[in-house]
Amino acid sequence: MNRMNGKVCVVTGGARGIGKGIVETLAREGATRVWALDMNDTEFPALEKAFPNVKGAVVNVTDAAAVEAFVEMAKAEFGRIDALVNNAGITRDALIHKMTEDDWDAVINVNLKGVFMMTKYAAPLMMETGSGSIVSISSVVGLDGNIGQSNYAATKGGVVAMTKGWAKEFARKGAKVRVNAVSPGYTRTPMLETVPAKVLDPIIARTPLGRLAEIQDIADAVLFLSSDEAAFITGQVLRVDGGLVL
Ligand SMILES: NC(=O)c1ccc[n+]([C@@H]2O[C@H](COP(=O)([O-])OP(=O)(O)OC[C@H]3O[C@@H](n4cnc5c(N)ncnc54)[C@H](O)[C@@H]3O)[C@@H](O)[C@H]2O)c1
Repeated sequence: MNRMNGKVCVVTGGARGIGKGIVETLAREGATRVWALDMNDTEFPALEKAFPNVKGAVVNVTDAAAVEAFVEMAKAEFGRIDALVNNAGITRDALIHKMTEDDWDAVINVNLKGVFMMTKYAAPLMMETGSGSIVSISSVVGLDGNIGQSNYAATKGGVVAMTKGWAKEFARKGAKVRVNAVSPGYTRTPMLETVPAKVLDPIIARTPLGRLAEIQDIADAVLFLSSDEAAFITGQVLRVDGGLVL
């Protein structure tokens, strides 16, 4: 399939986990270019070797100057960004009385400010060209809350709120920039390695489809929303959690 044929794509946190899966999926679907943005460049050579249309770039999404410079560079090379995937995210879990100010600030900074920063610089370029798709990764925790994740839940709920506002804001002045979110359930990635089986097993037990999400489940949802197949879909949150919350 070539569902991303000719499209210029940017995926934050693209070096591992869900982000890497999204990069590979968009690349396989014929994108002209998929930029994998990450702070960690160790995976870039292997990704670039496997997919000639993938390029790694070291960009910390919280660094306004680095984000602005990256978007300028993309604009100089292609004149447009068709798909932005705000995927970079971190956790610093603790019960509220044990959560430090540093835990709070770190998670807000990457998961909320990072999404704001990337969108602040990429969306005007999309508005200028008149089209584009932004997909941000929220979480089941952002919709339903979770013990020990006040900071993370606040950011993922914030992503949903920003998504809905931006869907309205970026569909003005003749532009048709679509903005959606994907809300994964618990997904098998390095991020999940810190979560003990005693927490995961009951989640699997109460998931109607009876398993955790695989990276490809999430990447396929992002692919759909980023592609022209979703041309009339904006301001939506697509749950990919096996029916965990119904
Ligand atoms: N794994 C899950 O169960 C799960 C569930 C729901 C939502 N999510 C969300 O999916 C996204 C990806 O999660 P994952 O499990 O693949 O995580 P991961 O930890 O495996 O990968 C995250 C990537 O983001 C990069 N990153 C972190 N901070 C960054 C920054 N400031 N600038 C640029 N890159 C940065 C990391 O280097 C890493 O490569 C996150 O937003 C996460 O909150 C994950």
